[in-house]
Amino acid sequence: PGTIPVTLTVNGQERRLRVAPWTTLLDLLREELDLTGTKKGCDHGQCGACTVIVDGKRINSCLALAVQKDGARVTTIEGLSSGSLHPVQAAFLEHDAFQCGYCTPGQIMSAVALIEEGRARSRDEIREHMSGNICRCGAYANIVDAVEDVLK
Ligand code: FES
Repeated sequence: PGTIPVTLTVNGQERRLRVAPWTTLLDLLREELDLTGTKKGCDHGQCGACTVIVDGKRINSCLALAVQKDGARVTTIEGLSSGSLHPVQAAFLEHDAFQCGYCTPGQIMSAVALIEEGRARSRDEIREHMSGNICRCGAYANIVDAVEDVLK
């Protein structure tokens, strides 16, 4: 009772669910679909840990209601690699672009969104694009190195 049907294509797979109207996309992914790679940091749009790609654009999934995304295509960190690492994941490993790793899925999804735009970027532009993704360990320099490397 009180739930609303939502259909999403998540990592290429169609998912039909019923959710409470106030369920965020983040909670749907984590609690209903067990896709816990997407992290909850602040739960109010300030940290970027919950970043996913929806219809080709990155969003903070904690700020989106699941019902608003009915019919959308969602890519989470789990959907990036099929067998081998996505180039952005490989670059993060190569450049040590994390310490505790909590912000990493969100960082990687933001970087993937930038790379999918398919054009060269300066270091400043990379920094600007990634500025919504907070890293409490301060791995920023290595994160920018990793993204720059993939964009080369
Ligand atoms: Fe969504 Fe922090 S959990 S921005």
